[in-house]
Amino acid sequence: MKLKFAENIAFYETGDGSNTLINKTTNETYHSKHGAVQESLHVFIKTGLEFILSTGHRPLKILEVGFGTGLNAMLTADYNCIEPFIYHTLEPFLVPLDIIKNTNYTRYLKQKHLKDYLVDQYKKQTEQELNPMTLYLGNCELKVFNTSLEEFQSDLKYDLIFYDAFSRHSQQEMWEGETIAKVVSLMAPGGVFVTYSVTGNLKRAMRDLGLEVERMAGAPGKREMLRAIKPKI
Ligand SMILES: C[S@@+](CC[C@H](N)C(=O)[O-])C[C@H]1O[C@@H](n2cnc3c(N)ncnc32)[C@H](O)[C@@H]1O
Repeated sequence: MKLKFAENIAFYETGDGSNTLINKTTNETYHSKHGAVQESLHVFIKTGLEFILSTGHRPLKILEVGFGTGLNAMLTADYNCIEPFIYHTLEPFLVPLDIIKNTNYTRYLKQKHLKDYLVDQYKKQTEQELNPMTLYLGNCELKVFNTSLEEFQSDLKYDLIFYDAFSRHSQQEMWEGETIAKVVSLMAPGGVFVTYSVTGNLKRAMRDLGLEVERMAGAPGKREMLRAIKPKI
């Protein structure tokens, strides 16, 4: 099967100087307009990764919904380069190589080489039409699945979910019943789910599925975000 790529996207500079992409059909950006890097660091790294590591949870299996530019993946590898961990990420519409290559994210990484590694392996594996692609970023084994959450099947249960879907204004189905039940079914007991927004539907769906829901302070420019934890039994 041929890989599927995103179309009609362009760069957009966000408030902290880091760039994101805008889908010119829906006008939806891939990150907060207030700051792409600062949002990813706050929501996914600090409130998600740092939190789960502080509970002593090891080894770590992460599932990201929406790989996009690879920013969350690179920041994760940059944060935790000591311990090996698994990072699976879903992307039904891959960002074309020339765009991945031209993001300005290297300047925000402590390990500057991570982006070049990502670009190099992404190039080779998209040329070979591999699905999933397997990319190595330090101790992080990254598998990029060119598929949607709805179609994704896995025997693995994940400890940490980075839920980075487009907002409910452009993709309402990603924030409701069946889709939320699907992602929760992929979580391990004690697993943690983080996302950049809070909606009534999402909270209700999570609670109905037995998760403990916490409203957390949002990334700069946003009031709140959501973290939810699956019970251990
Ligand atoms: C907000 S952007 C994610 C940004 C990304 N995490 C990054 O660091 O660049 C949302 C992403 O979800 C992808 N997406 C759309 N529908 C999806 C689905 N059904 N399942 C998984 N991902 C989806 C989009 O193509 C887009 O790349």
